[in-house]
Amino acid sequence: MNSQQWIEKSDKYIMRTYGRYPIVPVKGAGCRLWDADGKEYLDFLGGVAVNNLGHCHPKVVAALQKQAAELIHCSNYYQIPQQIELAELLCRHSFADKAFFCNSGAEANEAAIKLARKYSRDTHGPERFEIITAADSFHGRTMATVSATGQEKVQRFFDPLLHGFKHVPFDDLDALEAAITPITCAVMLEPIQGEGGVNVPSPDYFQEVRRICDKHELILIFDEVQVGMGRTGKLFAHEHFGVTPDIMTLAKALAGGAPIGTMLAKDRFAAAFVPGTHGSTFGGNPLVCAAAIATVRTILEDGILNRTEEIGEYLVGELERLQHKYSFVKEVRGIGLMIGMALHIPAGEIVKKGHERGVLLNVTHDTVLRFVPPLTVTKQEINQMIAILDSIFAEM
Ligand SMILES: Cc1ncc(COP(=O)(O)O)c(C=O)c1O
Repeated sequence: MNSQQWIEKSDKYIMRTYGRYPIVPVKGAGCRLWDADGKEYLDFLGGVAVNNLGHCHPKVVAALQKQAAELIHCSNYYQIPQQIELAELLCRHSFADKAFFCNSGAEANEAAIKLARKYSRDTHGPERFEIITAADSFHGRTMATVSATGQEKVQRFFDPLLHGFKHVPFDDLDALEAAITPITCAVMLEPIQGEGGVNVPSPDYFQEVRRICDKHELILIFDEVQVGMGRTGKLFAHEHFGVTPDIMTLAKALAGGAPIGTMLAKDRFAAAFVPGTHGSTFGGNPLVCAAAIATVRTILEDGILNRTEEIGEYLVGELERLQHKYSFVKEVRGIGLMIGMALHIPAGEIVKKGHERGVLLNVTHDTVLRFVPPLTVTKQEINQMIAILDSIFAEM
């Protein structure tokens, strides 16, 4: 079937939760995708920060093929070697002592919210349950994570929201301190806001947030669903800010494109979950964990982190060159390959023109072009994308 035929069938059978572009990708390799008509695209969205190792990385493909032939799924009533191995790998390379596995970023944040409430109830009593999050944050589409998210457009139509969330401006320490009351139990933040427009906080913000949390005995949760797994040039983005959280969530890039989420915690907090308090049928099954082990090992062992820092600087430099050339470009910001280009104009038209010319671009927060390509992207691919972007900007 060609792209048009797939689109017609999609309109008939798929719920309209996304404003989908008329592109039907059927094959991928590295930073490139091909659609059902054979057209090639350079992918600077990377499945929204999922394909950190590029499409169909050979080590991830091999791990999936091997595991699929041995054991795809087994219940969490039993011990799962791949899950145990992945937990060990993540704990050895982070602040955490224990992991819980699920299937998505929203579910990882649900787990973090439940763990924070359970720990707080066990330690301080049932009156402490409120979680402070940031305006413009994004934490997922389930009811608890929609309630945690600081964006009205995500919340509208779904009242009543879950009780027990309060939003404060991001990167505003006074607002955070002022929001804390005797019912506060935790603070949940993205180290760099992704969906909110690639917002990087002041360099000392998180150290102060940590100090405030310690002072008030609040749990600090980092949502690294989008910025984790090497995206910023460190395995976890919070490493740039010299702080560690008590709980961290990961998903997106963790298994090279296979669906997974995880909530990592220090022992003291993890102990609040006991048999029966939380679970997930598919969470951490052998297939997805085999993919995740291959992904994490490749990120750690194949020089991906250093490379991301270097290639990220190159991309920022090229985008800044365009910034100096076009007055409607306001700012280029980000760390590693988590990059936003804020414009004075809406970016939707630019994205559409990019598609026509064979490059997958993305807009977030209406006016911010977000660049989250595979960490394996080459300078040549960046040059190709920049030349197309330059030609589009010249027409704006
Ligand atoms: C920071 C952050 N948290 C949570 C989520 C939700 O993840 P998922 O779509 O896998 O549920 C996202 C998705 O974009 C995200 O960017």
